[in-house]
Amino acid sequence: MKFDRHRRLRSSQFMRDIVRENSLSKNDLIYPIFVVEEPDIKKEVPSMKGVFQISLNRLEEEIHEVVKLGIKSVIFFGVPNEKDALGTGAYDENGIVQEACKLSKKLYPELLVILDTCMCEYTDHGHCGVINEETQDVDNDKSLPLLVKTAVSQAKAGADIIAPSNMMDGFVAEIRKGLDENGFEHIPIMSYGIKYASKFYGPFRDAAESTPSFGDRRTYQMDPANRRDALRELESDEREGADMMIVKPALSYLDIIRDVRNSSNLPIVAYNVSGEYSMTRNAVDQGLLDEEVIMEQMLSMKRAGADLIITYFAKDLCKMIDKGE
Ligand code: PBG
Ligand code: ZN
Repeated sequence: MKFDRHRRLRSSQFMRDIVRENSLSKNDLIYPIFVVEEPDIKKEVPSMKGVFQISLNRLEEEIHEVVKLGIKSVIFFGVPNEKDALGTGAYDENGIVQEACKLSKKLYPELLVILDTCMCEYTDHGHCGVINEETQDVDNDKSLPLLVKTAVSQAKAGADIIAPSNMMDGFVAEIRKGLDENGFEHIPIMSYGIKYASKFYGPFRDAAESTPSFGDRRTYQMDPANRRDALRELESDEREGADMMIVKPALSYLDIIRDVRNSSNLPIVAYNVSGEYSMTRNAVDQGLLDEEVIMEQMLSMKRAGADLIITYFAKDLCKMIDKGE
């Protein structure tokens, strides 16, 4: 024998199946839904084919479809009618995501509802916290109490998981404390603490109508050039009480997902963001790439170490799984 015969274990589908190292299950999928306060809307997001902004009165059919396909968790993002400097819509007990959550829990109590704790969809300037007039930058410590209020209002609305994406320092500690003080010590925090300042969020900002009106998010989101920084964020979030860790974006950051996997025992969530979705969606729709690239991308995130994947492809993937692809 002069060489190794790797092909022995690739000889048939069953053979490949039994030695397969990673797989994608419906349990791994989290589906994002954009809910708009304005009634009677179901409008496709121009930069995200197949993704819609949906009004509360159209939400039932959407949730029904999601449940029927076998998806177990959704994350809601809100598009409010009115925005202001303090993002008051974010912590309104009858705000748009709070109402979407109540409706969803009423229709399907078992479907897990994750709510994104951030202010950018609710502030008139589009930043993820409140602006300090002097520095014209987001004021970290002034934003924290508003974020805590937001998280508590989300828990009160019945959210199963709180997912803060604002990238203020100390947000996990403060939100944990706020939840605990209000009787929500059982509600987990899925921290978006490893969030890069990425151009791959472009289409999301169309969908959520949350593009900053001035400046950018680089004073609070992470520099795409940095790797060690992710582990520093992980360390603080673990210490502050995060129950799960999101890495975002996912596909250009698979090294980061692996680093986090190797350094943490928390469940890891890969956020396959809007720009990643739209690139692949367009390539597939134009016939440039076969639809199976979608599954290949999901497997790459699993292989990198992700337990869960937030993806706009969740429905398509369920259909592929049902077909046995
Ligand atoms: C807001 C938020 C963003 C995403 C999720 N929550 C975007 C941003 O920072 O502008 C991006 C998701 C995506 O691109 O799919 N804090
Ligand atoms: Zn934000």
